[in-house]
Amino acid sequence: MQPARAPVYDATARLFHWATAALLLIQYVLAWTMPDVHRDTKPIGLIAWHLGVGVAIFLLVLVRLLWRSVHAAPPEPASLPPALRALARYTHWLLYLLLIAVPLMGWANASSRDWAVTLFAAIPMPPLSPAGSSVGHALGDWHRVFAWVLLALVGMHVAAALFHQFVLRDGTLGRMLPTHRKAASPEQ
Ligand code: HEM
Ligand code: HEM
Repeated sequence: MQPARAPVYDATARLFHWATAALLLIQYVLAWTMPDVHRDTKPIGLIAWHLGVGVAIFLLVLVRLLWRSVHAAPPEPASLPPALRALARYTHWLLYLLLIAVPLMGWANASSRDWAVTLFAAIPMPPLSPAGSSVGHALGDWHRVFAWVLLALVGMHVAAALFHQFVLRDGTLGRMLPTHRKAASPEQ
């Protein structure tokens, strides 16, 4: 008989998780290497990539949240103190909230600049604010501020994953990593 193993996130949840993480990494590299955005900047080159990858993150997280709303997370280890359990859950939902809000603010800012926002430089997306909108303009500042808040939260999240792995040693990181289940052999 196979030994009982701790519950883990399923393959779909893991795929969503690591695809979001990879796109987010690319998005910060793009944000920090693209030219500064001024009044007469054109949305070309790295800036166009920033808009396109940002919209992809937004849509991916939207689908992920829809999927997540009908698929519960696997139960946490019983050894996890209730305070840590609550902290982890609040952090995860705050991450989701920012992964939706940060792209929406950037998108509204792009629309206020009258920039066409497209997914994969091909599929046109609707404008989120009228061209010249002062709200859309202000949301550009909030976009940059909350991108830092998101990054700080991701930093906390990664630190927590490493703390679980190397200090608590409770197998939490393994819940989000590929599982290596041995195929059951019929002879045994
Ligand atoms: C989670 C996704 C996103 C992250 C983490 C992110 C991150 C950032 C960061 C860090 C900056 C500041 C760059 C700098 O000043 O050095 C920035 C600027 C900007 N981003 Fe994003 N972004 C995301 C999604 C989007 C989306 C979806 C759009 C538009 C469709 C967008 C449009 C912009 C624009 C227009 C600016 C310049 C804003 C200004 O300076 O007024 N971003 N982004
Ligand atoms: C870089 C951007 C990242 C984002 C936005 C992110 C976001 C999230 C979210 C929202 C969850 C909750 C999943 C759910 O229950 O629906 C989660 C779980 C998890 N993440 Fe991340 N994550 C990131 C990177 C990482 C990295 C680099 C690691 C490992 C070093 C990691 C390790 C984990 C683990 C172990 C879980 C499961 C926690 C548990 O069992 O309660 N994440 N992540």
